[in-house]
Amino acid sequence: MRKVTLSQLFQHELVQKYLNRSGVVHAISTAYHAFSLAKQHGVNPDLATKAALLHDIGHYTWYTDGKWDYALYKENDIHAIKGAERAHKLLIELGEDPRDAKEIALAILLHTDSYLPEGQLQLLPLQQVVALADEADEEPGGLHHYRQLDYSTACSRIKNLDRWVDAYYAAANLKHSV
Ligand SMILES: [Fe+2]
Repeated sequence: MRKVTLSQLFQHELVQKYLNRSGVVHAISTAYHAFSLAKQHGVNPDLATKAALLHDIGHYTWYTDGKWDYALYKENDIHAIKGAERAHKLLIELGEDPRDAKEIALAILLHTDSYLPEGQLQLLPLQQVVALADEADEEPGGLHHYRQLDYSTACSRIKNLDRWVDAYYAAANLKHSV
């Protein structure tokens, strides 16, 4: 039994506020990609889908005169750090296992290296899966942040993903019990 569901996270008012900034559709698509990639890479799909859903909640609005300012963003952005911290706080508040909350937060922290000094990062499989899932949904010019979806459709997509993760666990437990 999972302590926190994707639906609980998605419907939280802070997540709604931040996802409306960074793109609800991008967050949902990344979570779906993370589910398939987690299965392929033998990674826990519960952690992968949660990290993927929340990976961009640290974005800030870098606007100049009402227009998105990419140069300002590039220079000042720390969204992965901010997102990791926000996600960790929220997960702990909702009752997530602290070890899982840490793993999810670390995967968010390392989903991009755009804010880090040049160098080679050695990602763990969960962190790799979340970074790949994000890349799989990216569009040139950051267009993936602007795709729209109404709230009730978004909620039913998230509920569906919750069912997939639950079914994956039920099947895994069945395998262990025989
Ligand atoms: Fe992203």
